[in-house]
Amino acid sequence: MKHLLSITDLTRADIEQLHKLTDSFAEVGRRSIPKVPALRGKNLVWLFYEDSTRTRLSFEQAAKRLSADTMTFSVGSSSVKKGESLRDTVLTIEAMGVDAIVVRHASAGVPWQIAAWLEGRVSVVNAGDGWHEHPTQALLDSYTIREERGSLDGLHIGIIGDIKHSRVARSDVLAYTALGAEVTLIAPPTLLPPSIEGWPVRVSHDLDAVLPTLDVAYLLRMQQERMTEHLVPSLREYTTRYGLTLRRVDALRDDALVMHPGPMNRGVEISAEVADLPRSVIIDQVRNGVATRMAVLYLLLGQGAEKVLDPRDLPALDDRITGSGPEAAPSDDMKSSQKAFGAAEVRT
Ligand code: CP
Repeated sequence: MKHLLSITDLTRADIEQLHKLTDSFAEVGRRSIPKVPALRGKNLVWLFYEDSTRTRLSFEQAAKRLSADTMTFSVGSSSVKKGESLRDTVLTIEAMGVDAIVVRHASAGVPWQIAAWLEGRVSVVNAGDGWHEHPTQALLDSYTIREERGSLDGLHIGIIGDIKHSRVARSDVLAYTALGAEVTLIAPPTLLPPSIEGWPVRVSHDLDAVLPTLDVAYLLRMQQERMTEHLVPSLREYTTRYGLTLRRVDALRDDALVMHPGPMNRGVEISAEVADLPRSVIIDQVRNGVATRMAVLYLLLGQGAEKVLDPRDLPALDDRITGSGPEAAPSDDMKSSQKAFGAAEVRT
């Protein structure tokens, strides 16, 4: 695997392999010195054109725990402010010597464009492109459900809220259904994508009717910064019909989980009390993000996954750090991902 651009790049076996690798790196995270030399000598850059707390910091933490070197790029203090294009920025960074670019951008398709410009010389990880995909979020979310329930096979997962603007929902649908779960999207019609033809999901506009059947209630943030029109009459009315309140939690099964990718709007899509209930695994999602991103970086830049599935093997990584990892054809087009979700515009 050269890049991680979309969950459609991964088979069920690939996702399960990444989860096993994540188990190994979670074990590293519990050590008194949670660090291995697996990526010593590798240089990574964070190319974030959109704000982030969880994704950026957990990639940084993952890289540090793998002993990689990192460079941080901040749009606000970069030559982008002087008009430098994305392509020139990417080629400038490449010239300094990097092994991987982790990119977040407001435009769908940018990670594919960067991968195409770099022609396989540098690995590219999609850390969120517009409304399109956020594959490492889906990996950490499915890992968290697997950690709690053993497997996703046969589970019923409700994704609730602003599906229209959610890259998390798109990647989660792909990962959850690949792992054998059934997914229902629950939202007002105005917060669904214009077409969900081909999505392997059911749709409901009635949260109260679906709640008792769910194993996981996955809340999404109302992305008001992406809304150019009034898609709900008011936030208060939205909360009345779709907010996960303490009263609504009573309708969930005893073992049902509450999840949210963050950042949360407490009091809008999820009440403050519900976010802090024991059944809420939102903080576990964040914690698992570090080990998940260690697994992704190791798979892309290290010696491959199969050799470290047993955590007892990890202290011996020293003698494997010089390899360049298995070569694979770069995933430099987004056709399969577009097929899953309809045309995604590439704007650079
Ligand atoms: N879930 C997520 O992508 O959070 P950040 O925007 O803080 O990275």
